[in-house]
Amino acid sequence: EKGGYDYFMLKEIAEQPKAVADTLLGRIDPSGSLTLDEVRISPSELREIDKVVIVACGTAFHAGLIAKYAIEHWTRIPCEVELASEFRYRDPILDGRSLVIAISQSGETMDTLMALRHAREQGSKVLAICNTNGSTIPRESDAVLYTHAGPEVAVASTKAFLTQLVACYLVALYLGQVRGTKWGDEIQAVIKDLSRISEEVERVLETMEPVRALARTLAGKDTVLFLGRHVGYPVALEGALKLKELAYMHAEGFAAGELKHGPIALIEEDVPVVVVVPSPRGRSVLHDKIVSNIQEIRARGARTIVIAEEGDEAVVPYADHLIRIPATPTLLQPLVATVPLQVFACELATARGNEVDQPRNLAKSVTVE
Ligand code: M6R
Repeated sequence: EKGGYDYFMLKEIAEQPKAVADTLLGRIDPSGSLTLDEVRISPSELREIDKVVIVACGTAFHAGLIAKYAIEHWTRIPCEVELASEFRYRDPILDGRSLVIAISQSGETMDTLMALRHAREQGSKVLAICNTNGSTIPRESDAVLYTHAGPEVAVASTKAFLTQLVACYLVALYLGQVRGTKWGDEIQAVIKDLSRISEEVERVLETMEPVRALARTLAGKDTVLFLGRHVGYPVALEGALKLKELAYMHAEGFAAGELKHGPIALIEEDVPVVVVVPSPRGRSVLHDKIVSNIQEIRARGARTIVIAEEGDEAVVPYADHLIRIPATPTLLQPLVATVPLQVFACELATARGNEVDQPRNLAKSVTVE
């Protein structure tokens, strides 16, 4: 049932182009507008929304962090993202005009479930983004947008994450469409790019051999750091989480802008630092800032592993290892930038002799607090 792969995780990584395509299927019509019939929250209710709050745990939380950038940019609705376990024990300010989005692969995560119950008690509408048909979280929500990743067996979430991102983009674009905000050329172009993105994910998968080879050389390291900006920051967090859970290594993700506020003290000779570089097109200021971050850490001896768009030549002089990803619009980059990090963590785990599909101490779904 592993389809010829050694691990479910490898199979699931390879299934990502299909998972992404399946999650888009039937949701973008040929004219480029979105049909999300399952979202049974009426357009008039969606027009009343004045705040979006996303709750989730682990990898699903990282998808939520990325969704915030998309939702605020495309809809101009304020969006907060919170760990479900924190949200439920605060006194979050919600009302009937807040839309709460609960993201969960399994649909059974206890903290996310309790967070959504809490939100519904305050009169908020809850939209679930979930991969498991008929599970508890979608059953208790007002509406659900299913991700079509298919069953995810490996404890480390991969294809579910990519499809959660796709679902978040669809929700953001749909909110934009319903509310008429910024609905114009940019959005139409993004929808077009999104509908082709599974081919880009496929292209990334075809070029992963050097990433595997690099991972094997790092098996003896104690620490790997990850840096990103903008949507690259949650990607860095996700890369670090994957490495912790699979390779049992110390790994941390940082916002690159925070370097000087502390983390740069961790940089010493030969520490591997993975840097996720935003597109030099689009918001070029983000790109330039991160290039100078790479210079700074390299000058202090870091071994830089740079994930950058094809054609981005500015990073070349500072990259000890360069991992190329296809050019995408800035907000969609996580769909391609995360893939090498999954492969990297999986290979490092293998090189360290760890059990890839069932890492120690972890369960696939956390149904206790
Ligand atoms: O089923 P869920 O999406 O609610 O699970 C949330 C987290 O437990 C999950 O993403 C976890 O962090 C994964 N093991 C990460 O790979």
